Amino acid sequence: MIDHIRKLILEAKRKADAESGSNVEPQFAQKIDWPVTCTVGPGLEGAIACESAVGYVNGSAGKLIYRGYDVFDLCAYSTFEEVTYLLLHGELPTEEELDNFKAELCRRRHVPRTLRQLMSNPIEEMNDMAALRLGVDFLRRTHSKVDTIEARPRSETAISSDEDSIPMEKAPYGEKKAIYEFTKNALGPNKPVDLATCYDLIAAMPTIVAAVHRIKAGKLPIEPHPDLGHAANFLYMIRGEKPSLLEEKVMDVALILHADHGMNASTFATMVVASTLSDIYFSIGAGIAALNGPLHGGANEAAIKALQEIGHKDNVRAWLDGKLARKEKIPGFGHRVYKAYDPRARILGPLAKELAKEHPECRTLTETAEVLEEEMVRRFGESKGIFPNVDFYSGLVYMTMGLDHHLFTPIFAVSRVAGWTARTIEYLENNRIFRPRAVYTGSFDKKYKPLAER
Ligand SMILES: CC(C)(COP(=O)(O)OP(=O)(O)OC[C@H]1O[C@@H](n2cnc3c(N)ncnc32)[C@H](O)[C@@H]1OP(=O)(O)O)[C@@H](O)C(=O)NCCC(=O)NCCS
Repeated sequence: MIDHIRKLILEAKRKADAESGSNVEPQFAQKIDWPVTCTVGPGLEGAIACESAVGYVNGSAGKLIYRGYDVFDLCAYSTFEEVTYLLLHGELPTEEELDNFKAELCRRRHVPRTLRQLMSNPIEEMNDMAALRLGVDFLRRTHSKVDTIEARPRSETAISSDEDSIPMEKAPYGEKKAIYEFTKNALGPNKPVDLATCYDLIAAMPTIVAAVHRIKAGKLPIEPHPDLGHAANFLYMIRGEKPSLLEEKVMDVALILHADHGMNASTFATMVVASTLSDIYFSIGAGIAALNGPLHGGANEAAIKALQEIGHKDNVRAWLDGKLARKEKIPGFGHRVYKAYDPRARILGPLAKELAKEHPECRTLTETAEVLEEEMVRRFGESKGIFPNVDFYSGLVYMTMGLDHHLFTPIFAVSRVAGWTARTIEYLENNRIFRPRAVYTGSFDKKYKPLAER
């Protein structure tokens, strides 16, 4: 069965290579000599915020690379633990390194104190992402001394601690020293992030998500299973039973596919907070908050709701005409970076169809999804570069595993925390606080009128 899944993934890779090619975009894949000139659109579209060796999203070829490896290959041959190690450390682990890493994660899954603190709050009234963010805050209090005075980063070692310094306001062209006004090891002894803390977050977030889900359903949390891998244990803690090998592999693939994706909104939010030398728990809290939005991680839930609303493949065209006439966006389609088919959707689509074979209740939704995809690609694929994105099929995959739609975005977070932490660690090596400008379009010279005269 696992071989069959691997075949589907490699078939998706062949399609991607045949249809989209693999040209690298030179403006997004080279060393930069700062300051850089780029064309920036609204929403910082096209803006280059930093250099990174963690991953590369090739939007025109529909390719996703983690540390040099094609995500299709990682999904076919690797595991989430191995990929997380790769993202954080830069290289694939040896057997011994991987065993140690897995043992570290396994040990750090147990967060009974955090769960107790969560359970003393009204989490049954909370959105799952809000509860996850709260859980991360409790982790912060349990696992670190971040609130103690001695744990605060020293401002004199911080890079550009005065964000309004002249180089921030007026780009000093030709003055590289002024652009890079920081020292290599600026973080000093009180680092706001270290690898062990990242391991804690990556290991504990599945436990929190699963526990919140169960508590909200009126059930007790389940102890992590020491013999299960990251994906299998996550499913086990949610459902209370060990997953089949197929489910384990598919969840593992889904986690790999969501682990990193360039400077997306939640990664950027995480890095912006981290760049102030706030600590990693606050930074990840910002990432969770950003991921919650329906234009980002929330889109997979919206995609399922749309498919349910359509109800049957025969209703697709009429439903779509109505939506487009009202100028509404179709959830699960379009992407700021991909103007070709999203490689993650290329993998998840066939997996959803495969799993749906054994789940008749999901078959109608999957058939509806196929027709919606055909229609959208026919209408907008060539003309606007709109194709299904990762969120279009991820929800369907999770549904076939019996996972509630409230879990979709938290599952995304459980995976993306790998990219959030890897990129934050990398960025802080040469940190500079993020601080773009806005162009003022308001008026000047207004005379203040006392309240009584307004
Ligand atoms: C992802 C998203 C926010 C990217 O937005 P963006 O880069 O700002 O792109 P824009 O919103 O400017 O869209 C560009 C054009 O494509 C159209 N378009 C983009 N996504 C669309 C969608 N899902 N359905 C219909 N039309 C879409 C826009 O209407 C616009 O058309 P116009 O040029 O005729 O005005 C956007 O595609 C979207 O809202 N998708 C649905 C939500 C979703 O699936 N998010 C998950 C992303 S992984």
